[in-house]
Amino acid sequence: MQRTLYPLDSETRSKIRSTQILTSIPQIVSELVQNSLDANASQINVGVDIVEWECWVYDDGTGISKKDMAILAKGPMEGRYGSSKAYEINSLNQLSTFGFRGEALASAADICCLEISSRTKAAGETWSVIVKGGKSLHYGPAIRWRRDTAGSVVSVRDVFYNLPVRRRVHPSASKSLEIIKRDLQCFSLVFPHVSFTLEDAAKDQSNHSRGKVLSIPRTTSSLEAFRSTFGKPLAELL
Ligand SMILES: Nc1ncnc2c1ncn2[C@@H]1O[C@H](COP(=O)(O)OP(=O)(O)OP(=O)(O)O)[C@@H](O)[C@H]1O
Ligand SMILES: [Mg+2]
Repeated sequence: MQRTLYPLDSETRSKIRSTQILTSIPQIVSELVQNSLDANASQINVGVDIVEWECWVYDDGTGISKKDMAILAKGPMEGRYGSSKAYEINSLNQLSTFGFRGEALASAADICCLEISSRTKAAGETWSVIVKGGKSLHYGPAIRWRRDTAGSVVSVRDVFYNLPVRRRVHPSASKSLEIIKRDLQCFSLVFPHVSFTLEDAAKDQSNHSRGKVLSIPRTTSSLEAFRSTFGKPLAELL
């Protein structure tokens, strides 16, 4: 039977693209941590609750201005391709930041509930946006995650709530935590001057949060960072 070719509607296109950019919670955490590193953070705290499909990254980086937050609040359609790291096509081979597409947060806004709370050095208050499934739910003073100093908290809840297939094939909670731990350890080798923590916020049977599962202090060199993670004997072999 002859089939007719027809264009996908723009919402479907956006959703398919978003799920290619963000495929799992460890991948989302990695994108958020890369954003914090691009914002020159020196302290990055990661929290995850895989059971509740939630993760967040707290940093002390430069923060995001109200004006830029307004663009992010537009969601996956109009907000996509908004990047402060925009490169010319012929200078893409000279990247100095992880980000270059302006797609990670727009994708999170499409297939999760994305909340960004941020404060720049010049701002007098913490501003926040909440976008879920492409719909802007809040743009105004922060309700939670309010802060006295510059930095951002990007919190992602209801991950893949509208993409059951991604949930079905998602790695287990323990595997996901292992991947996130390994990623943070790798980042710490390249950014020894940054300290990282990882909190497992999933509740155990007595309803207590599992707590801090990783703490990587800031060090003065990659070798020091390696020693702190892998121990002295292995560091001496390097
Ligand atoms: N933690 C953060 N601190 C400061 N600015 C941030 C932070 N996270 C995001 N931003 C701002 O939001 C913009 C959009 O972030 P997003 O991750 O979607 O795109 P990107 O990093 O520019 O590119 P890519 O999609 O390749 O990651 C960034 O360009 C940056 O200006
Ligand atoms: Mg990014």
